[in-house]
Amino acid sequence: MNENETGTHPIPVPDMKHAHVPGMAAYDQLVAEAEADHSGYWSRLAREFLTWKTPFTKGLDDSRAPFFEWFEDGTLNVSYNCLDRQVERGLGDKTAIIFEADDGQVTRVSYRDLLARTCRMANALKARGVKKGDRVVIYLSMSIEGVVAMQACARIGATHSVVFGGFSAQSLRDRIQDVGAVMVITADEQLRGGRQLPLKAIVDDAIALGGCEAVTDVIVYRRTGGKIAWDPSRDRWLHEEMQNQAESCEPEWVGAEHPLFVLYTSGSTGKPKGVQHSSGGYLLHAALTMKWTFDLKDDDVFWCTADIGWVTGHTYIAYGPLALGATEVVFEGVPTYPDAGRFWKMIQDHKVSVFYTAPTAIRSLIKAAEADEAVHPKRYDLSSLRILGSVGEPINPAAWKWFHQNIGGGRCPIVDTFWQTETGGHMITPLPGATPLVPGSCTLPFPGIAAAIVDETGTDVPNGQGGILVVKKPWPSMIRTIWGDPERFKASYYPPELKGYYLAGDGAIRDAQTGYFTITGRIDDVLNVSGHRMGTMEIESALVSCTDLVAEAAVVGRPDETTGEAICAFVVLKGPRPSGEEAKKIANELRNWVAREIGPIAKPKDICFGDNLPKTRSGKIMRRLLRSVAKGETITQDTSTLENPAILEQLAQRN
Ligand code: WT7
Repeated sequence: MNENETGTHPIPVPDMKHAHVPGMAAYDQLVAEAEADHSGYWSRLAREFLTWKTPFTKGLDDSRAPFFEWFEDGTLNVSYNCLDRQVERGLGDKTAIIFEADDGQVTRVSYRDLLARTCRMANALKARGVKKGDRVVIYLSMSIEGVVAMQACARIGATHSVVFGGFSAQSLRDRIQDVGAVMVITADEQLRGGRQLPLKAIVDDAIALGGCEAVTDVIVYRRTGGKIAWDPSRDRWLHEEMQNQAESCEPEWVGAEHPLFVLYTSGSTGKPKGVQHSSGGYLLHAALTMKWTFDLKDDDVFWCTADIGWVTGHTYIAYGPLALGATEVVFEGVPTYPDAGRFWKMIQDHKVSVFYTAPTAIRSLIKAAEADEAVHPKRYDLSSLRILGSVGEPINPAAWKWFHQNIGGGRCPIVDTFWQTETGGHMITPLPGATPLVPGSCTLPFPGIAAAIVDETGTDVPNGQGGILVVKKPWPSMIRTIWGDPERFKASYYPPELKGYYLAGDGAIRDAQTGYFTITGRIDDVLNVSGHRMGTMEIESALVSCTDLVAEAAVVGRPDETTGEAICAFVVLKGPRPSGEEAKKIANELRNWVAREIGPIAKPKDICFGDNLPKTRSGKIMRRLLRSVAKGETITQDTSTLENPAILEQLAQRN
């Protein structure tokens, strides 16, 4: 068998008698409980996992489908559930966060300290007039303050919207404006890989672009002490704001459906979607998946390497671990600084027992380890590890096996967790003490998640046959709506032909024997580059907005060994088609343009210039053909309907 083929012989489950879900019989029982009474199952768990101020009386409310509600008449506070509850349980002195800075400096924060800091920040926000229902944009790098800022918003019922620190001023402005933020919390600069990168300056630029008039305060965390511009009418230092604030702050008790956060993600059209999540249902799934998928125990040290700017950092850094009273590592830096052994050294130093990362990181660290013995994981003591996790994109079996062998010492189960910004938490994933593993498969649905594969009419397809991934029943942590655009929510996730099923946007196939799911990739115009979700239309709009140069552009993805997918842009310039050095120079200009419009993560890897683009006689760009060209495939499809078939040859030559 090719080592990159998905296996068919499941790897047996290690002996985990004490797992929270110990064996397939236990898994089957949970699945059966959910099947017998879906709403009752989730309600039982919501009572067990969360502390409610006012208990709810009903589970699922589907009367306004597809705008589903869960536990609607219950009230709670997310920050109370993450912090106060742990202190009340006697975990006040337990370490909540082990923060490791870019330069290796380590800071430990106990649950008691984290609560006090959250309360002080919450009081500071209130003192500036932020109240329940207001939106606060958080534009921060990985830091204790980032987690505290999210928790502080939750404490006072403000809805946060975290924007990844790699997004440009333009992208930040669009998000501030769309969500209607009254405040932005940022830092002077961020430190990554030994470099100081601007944050506050980008906020200044974003606000200067206009449309952010609702923002009355910009709160600045001093991280590097770097020089920044200061507008005294609006800018305030975080430490000054927090200085005289009390260390207690009565939580704002909110309804279970109160929007905890809005997080922007890419869709099929140019404009990013503000995915709105709830408080009760979201936190339930964060806590539940933390416990079952990672089999989390009191003495575990959990490390999720994601950034708080993505949903993984929301659910598995800011909320899930804290809701269970876990100890977690929060890392400011990058996996390759000071060298590519950083992750392995941190696992060794902090005795990490559950490690959750992305296939892209694994693939690049494999390359690094193969190139340089000194950063090979075998040089480190990784014996503290018990469970490994993967997220963000399909993990190819070769990388899976390397991870299993070299990091997990062949003894740690890998949970390949399939989920999305919209789903709030894991949807299809092994449970480490129950599910036999197959490299390259995310295996079976989390108990209570009605995942299925159907055709375009919503009819089930048999195992062994690929189709569209759907979820047949609502679940507590699902997206509630797209912020300010309920119609787009319905059209994107509940298209009429799918019988009321949630459309994930991915293709999938179930194994004929085991019924295991394998995700085959997006079925829409969304790319996954290094686990970052990018809309092709978004990048196209950015390119054509360079009106001095670009007449037309089409963007597609092509497979890439390290990043999963790579962005490939076909561009028609206003002037003549460039070649040689000239083409290289313009391609670089365009890359920088896209970085400025969206962010460096959206820079196309390949840019091919053509005299025009392959179009049908009705003028539609044939992206399917461009995908073949991008991959370097010979075109076998019928091109007779093309207006200009000769263009394919020109584009295939590249430049
Ligand atoms: C898309 C969602 C999940 C949080 C981080 C990304 C792809 C995600 C897997 C996996 C195969 C995966 C899907 C999905 N994806 N996890 N384990 N196996 N594909 O969240 O940015 O909303 O992206 O990532 O295509 O739709 P996101």
